[in-house]
Amino acid sequence: MKIDLLELVENGGCSSKIPPGQLDEIVKLLPRQADPDILVGTETHDDAGVYRINDDLAMVFTTDFFPPVCSDPYEFGQIAATNSISDIYAMGGDPVVALNIMMFPSAKLPMEVYSEIIRGGAEKAYEAGVNIIGGHTIDDSPPKYGLAVVGYVHPGKIITNSGARPGDALILTKPIGGGIILAAKKLGLASGNDVDEALRLMKLLNRSAATAMKRFDIKGATDITGFGLAGHALKMARAGNVTITLDMKKVPLIGSALQLAESGCIPGAAFRNLDYIESSAAISEELDYNLKMIACDAQTSGGLLISAPAGKCNEILAELHKTGLTESALIGYVSEKEDHPLKLK
Ligand code: CO
Ligand code: CO
Ligand code: CO
Repeated sequence: MKIDLLELVENGGCSSKIPPGQLDEIVKLLPRQADPDILVGTETHDDAGVYRINDDLAMVFTTDFFPPVCSDPYEFGQIAATNSISDIYAMGGDPVVALNIMMFPSAKLPMEVYSEIIRGGAEKAYEAGVNIIGGHTIDDSPPKYGLAVVGYVHPGKIITNSGARPGDALILTKPIGGGIILAAKKLGLASGNDVDEALRLMKLLNRSAATAMKRFDIKGATDITGFGLAGHALKMARAGNVTITLDMKKVPLIGSALQLAESGCIPGAAFRNLDYIESSAAISEELDYNLKMIACDAQTSGGLLISAPAGKCNEILAELHKTGLTESALIGYVSEKEDHPLKLK
């Protein structure tokens, strides 16, 4: 029996996140933590927490897990692991160890699906130099998988989502539109090439982009996942107390994502994300409706959004292109805080 994991889920991958506005409200109610060794906590909604161990070493700690984003169990495992490890790269860390987190309906699916998911995760972890040293499984349907990952970073070299400074330019390392392509796949409208390319990008570690960030001493970055390019850019603008302008005409898109959006393939998660950004964003009247929705399209295991001093951008882009991130592009800039933390044009 060939199992298609996509038949088991409504919202797969990072599009299954809880709406960001609701999450903000809950996180606000948590007690404040006063431990001075917490270098990055919950306040700035960063990709991972960072805890100082000593003057030369801090621990970066994150977890992500979600329901299937593709049909094949092995590929799902690869994507989920790539996505989980990405938050360590986004903070400038080196991922070191991880635990598997698995929810699996053992009465509904053959255990070979379980082992294929875990095998995909293990292979990606191995590629990233991460040791999986344990895990935990509960019986639950549909299946969900991901990792809790620990990485190392020097306390003075942490890259945060609050590090964007006026005068910086914004570089995006992977094209977007993956959520739209997967929605189109479910409707039988996406081409095989587009689906393959979207899945290839989801399985691509953000490691080489992280290496480039470290070489150029970057201070601000985040990875683009369930809240979409616009949602994560808004979080970055708020955390850094700046305004971010995104030029949607310069944003690289996967295959025919724009044409698919034009034909109506816009997943629900994009509307949820639009809801979240709308009151904080100045959206240009000239901006095409479908490009606006693509800005809000939930990505799974997306690329990094890097805030780089404008003078370094060409060099960084050349480096990213050289390491295979050929569609990396300059897509916007950072300025002093204005009325709106986010501008889309
Ligand atoms: Co993240
Ligand atoms: Co995350
Ligand atoms: Co346990």
